[in-house]
Amino acid sequence: LHIAVLMGGWSAEREVSLMSGNGVADALESLGHRVTRIDLDRDVAAKLAEAKPDVVFNALHGTPGEDGSVQGMLDLMGIRYTHSGMVTSVIAIDKQLTKQALVPHGIPMPGGRMVSREELYRQDPLPRPYVLKPVNEGSSVGVAIVTPESNVGNPIHPDARGPWQEFDELLAEPFIRGRELTTAVLGDQALGVTELKPKNGFYDYDAKYTDGLTEHVFPAQIPDDVAEACKRIALDAHRLLGCKGASRADFRWDDTQGVDGLFLLEVNTQPGMTPLSLVPEQARHLGIDYATLVQRIVEEAL
Ligand code: DAL
Ligand code: MG
Repeated sequence: LHIAVLMGGWSAEREVSLMSGNGVADALESLGHRVTRIDLDRDVAAKLAEAKPDVVFNALHGTPGEDGSVQGMLDLMGIRYTHSGMVTSVIAIDKQLTKQALVPHGIPMPGGRMVSREELYRQDPLPRPYVLKPVNEGSSVGVAIVTPESNVGNPIHPDARGPWQEFDELLAEPFIRGRELTTAVLGDQALGVTELKPKNGFYDYDAKYTDGLTEHVFPAQIPDDVAEACKRIALDAHRLLGCKGASRADFRWDDTQGVDGLFLLEVNTQPGMTPLSLVPEQARHLGIDYATLVQRIVEEAL
């Protein structure tokens, strides 16, 4: 096959996408495919029209590769592509829209609401501790945990460094104490549950992409009912949103509350494919090596 791998682009996760895309492209070449690597820019449509690939492997993260824009362009051009389609991507990139789509179906997700910068400067939107995050970023870019100790006596302030300086609006959610879990879905199978144990306590951008900063425990050492719930919720969410190829469901679990303490944070429709990424890692534990995983994602797109 001739496969164009779309990567890079201009989102905050550009570097992550280049790692995902080059890893995918190397694997596809090792399988004997002809590969065109395309760093996403405003001329991407012209580049694709010239390359005429049989299929696109979408290795983009964030905007506009994960938010439906690139998917809509490829639909219009009549080019097949991996992972989720346009409508799914529009919903899943937005953590609030995802809740509106999934919570009515009984998927447990944290409450919370959107809050403007002006409001944040006036008052806490929720009782502390709470989390502030951009509604449509990935890799923990722009996430802040506001604890009772943060900025004591001086709530979020224009001079205090934080995502409120960069984003006009943020999603505020109650902070769920406890543990960080994740489940990959490949095709119609939930692969398993990994627990992430970041050495500095917060699974932030550095903890995600620096080797040695986070311990990955697979299978997670958690009760069977919690592990089963992770897999069921990940698969239900994948189906309800209409995801294709691979997705990854990220959870927080309050381990003092049993299975009732489990909350889905989001579904990633363009999960990372870097050497430290979790979908390839779970697949490997099940005997699916990286190249086979990439090939299976391509086959689902054909
Ligand atoms: N947003 C990153 C790439 C992930 O979900 O893996
Ligand atoms: Mg994400």
